[in-house]
Amino acid sequence: MDFMNSVLIVGGGGREHALLKALLRSDRALCMFAYPGNPGMERDGCMLVNQPIGSWDDLAKWACENEIDLTVVGPEVPLAEGIVDVFNKEGLTIFGPSAAAARIEGSKAFSKNLMRKYKIPTADFEVFTAKDKALAYLEEKGAPIVVKVSGLAAGKGAIVCDTLDEARLALDDIFDNKSFGEAGQTVVIEEKMSGEEASVFVLTDGKSYKILPVAQDHKTIGDNDTGPNTGGMGAYAPAPVVDAALLSAIEKEIIVPTLAAMEKEKSRYRGVLFVGIMVTKEGPRVIEYNCRFGDPETQAILPLVQCDWYEAFRACAKGKLSGVKWSVDSDKYCVSVVLASKGYPGKFEKGKVITGIEMAEEKGSLDVYFAGVNLDSEERLVTNGGRVLAVSAWAPDLTDAVAQAYDGVAEIKFAGKTFRRDIAAKGLKKSKL
Ligand code: AMP
Ligand code: GLY
Repeated sequence: MDFMNSVLIVGGGGREHALLKALLRSDRALCMFAYPGNPGMERDGCMLVNQPIGSWDDLAKWACENEIDLTVVGPEVPLAEGIVDVFNKEGLTIFGPSAAAARIEGSKAFSKNLMRKYKIPTADFEVFTAKDKALAYLEEKGAPIVVKVSGLAAGKGAIVCDTLDEARLALDDIFDNKSFGEAGQTVVIEEKMSGEEASVFVLTDGKSYKILPVAQDHKTIGDNDTGPNTGGMGAYAPAPVVDAALLSAIEKEIIVPTLAAMEKEKSRYRGVLFVGIMVTKEGPRVIEYNCRFGDPETQAILPLVQCDWYEAFRACAKGKLSGVKWSVDSDKYCVSVVLASKGYPGKFEKGKVITGIEMAEEKGSLDVYFAGVNLDSEERLVTNGGRVLAVSAWAPDLTDAVAQAYDGVAEIKFAGKTFRRDIAAKGLKKSKL
């Protein structure tokens, strides 16, 4: 048997399933593990870590014992908690930023001050730890205004307020009700920006970097950007809102200075840097940084990139990214539609039987990524989360990619299946102009 390299993926959502499929697309023989993983990853040949893990030290020990050659981390929490530092101490190769570098997402006070210090364009802001001072600033600035908790809040930590009353309530909630716990001990209050949003992902070893196709997420539950925010209801790439000239401005004004700033701050950034951009009339500005791949953006981006991801992730971890061969399929679009449980992002029921996944997959040029899915006692696939599946389809034309993705969506059935019908509509409108 050929020599096999072993890879551990940390996480168990649609993003991690997409990372798995991308890793498996190369010719390299890989032995795949996931913690905690999901039944879709298992179906694709990935073994789930079936040992109790109480800490990242436990997982590092497991990785040593199982001779893991590469660990790839999906979510932000393990990164902010220092999983990369723990694995590095054991001599393991792991893709992702150190805890110090992950502060770029884990502390908005850190990232906003970094942007101010290094003149990286972002919304004007102040940082507060006391409610009275925060209130006084609100009164001075007036509405609209954005109140954000500094710490990690599972995507719920930014409260966009159209009135001062909403902003005051947000502060009550953070400081008095302590709704965000420790994450809300420090608060950022910032100017509300307007424009279209885009998600820019930069793969980096700290010095050299590669920019992935730019994606656009769909954050609200309802069509035409209505209703409450979710983790993301769908994405597509490349998004025409960022053309070549704008991408070059983003690279020069944001990406290069950010990587240099992190190096200067003794927090060299390695891994994937996710920059949330607002395309304003004055130019691109940073909404926020994330220290990881996006979900569902990853499901729309990875099918467009041809590379040996095992080599690319290892090269990032080892400071050797510049030598990695890589190509982005030009003239190919990918659209990913998320299927959610009825009620999400609020309360929802679990345990609804899912059918039709194979029928969707048979359509070709299409992947189905599992997220909130479980096996019941009869080994049937059942819903187990808010976001259940993502259907990603690719085609030379955005219109066709959209049609194919929705063809796949139509095949998949479960009680309460909820999805947006306008994924990539903004892109279609722009590309027709
Ligand atoms: P964040 O958690 O910082 O990514 O914010 C979540 C969402 O809130 C963003 O995707 C935007 O839609 C919105 N948002 C955050 N900050 C601002 C801002 N300064 N101006 C306008 N919208 C914002
Ligand atoms: N889709 C947005 C995120 O991953 O944070």
